[in-house]
Amino acid sequence: MIDLENVSMAYTDKGMPAVSHANLHVNKGEFIFVVGSSGSGKSTLIKLLLKELDSTAGKITVNGQVLEGMKHRKVAKYRRKIGVVFQDFRLLKDRNVYENVAFAQRVIGRPTRVIKKRVPEVLMEVGLGGKYKKRVTELSGGEQQRVALARALVNRPDILLADEPTGNLDPHTSQEIMKLLEQINNRGTTVLVVTHDREIVNSMKKRVVTMKDGSIVNDEKEGEYYEN
Ligand SMILES: Nc1ncnc2c1ncn2[C@@H]1O[C@H](COP(=O)(O)OP(=O)(O)OP(=O)(O)O)[C@@H](O)[C@H]1O
Ligand SMILES: [Mg+2]
Repeated sequence: MIDLENVSMAYTDKGMPAVSHANLHVNKGEFIFVVGSSGSGKSTLIKLLLKELDSTAGKITVNGQVLEGMKHRKVAKYRRKIGVVFQDFRLLKDRNVYENVAFAQRVIGRPTRVIKKRVPEVLMEVGLGGKYKKRVTELSGGEQQRVALARALVNRPDILLADEPTGNLDPHTSQEIMKLLEQINNRGTTVLVVTHDREIVNSMKKRVVTMKDGSIVNDEKEGEYYEN
């Protein structure tokens, strides 16, 4: 599903690479945590997978498509099959829950009747069945992240990328969101979660990839969050 072969990416010609000679292979249906200290290259890795950034060396293959040399006009369609959520939710604050999810569908020209069927479905999946009409500003942080997850899942992506999805949430709510990510994974979506949450990583017994100074320094099944 995701394959990195000796991938490097430097933001500037002279500076240290943000990702350096990374090799990573993620199978369809896997759940992986990516951990590592601040500045170790985790968000850069996510941006490479989204093709928001281009690698400067190596080869990235996602879902059978090689990202290097992908034509500009193909990128939007490629991204449709990848869901993404962030620490800061990135919702439309002046819209309600339903609209935040429906919007992503309208942008890509889905017919209204499809949207009307799909949006309630995905809101149920994330546990927001009864809150369609609430403004997102009236929701708790955990509920806002659920809206962001619904929006990420509405196109039935093959892969869900999450960059510190619980970074703004209290421990209990963080647990709930991680459980939800696990459920999404159990339904077949490949899930990659960047997190600093040591307790969650150590309790969930998933594959853990550790980055340090742009390199992948550890990759373990049922791994732990090691000090580095
Ligand atoms: N837009 C940018 N321009 C130049 N350098 C950048 C840019 N974004 C990130 N970097 C540098 O790339 C390196 C990796 O940054 P990245 O954001 O990927 O780290 P991270 O692991 O996500 O850190 P954090 O845990 O703090 O989010 C850092 O040295 C950072 O300073
Ligand atoms: Mg980051």
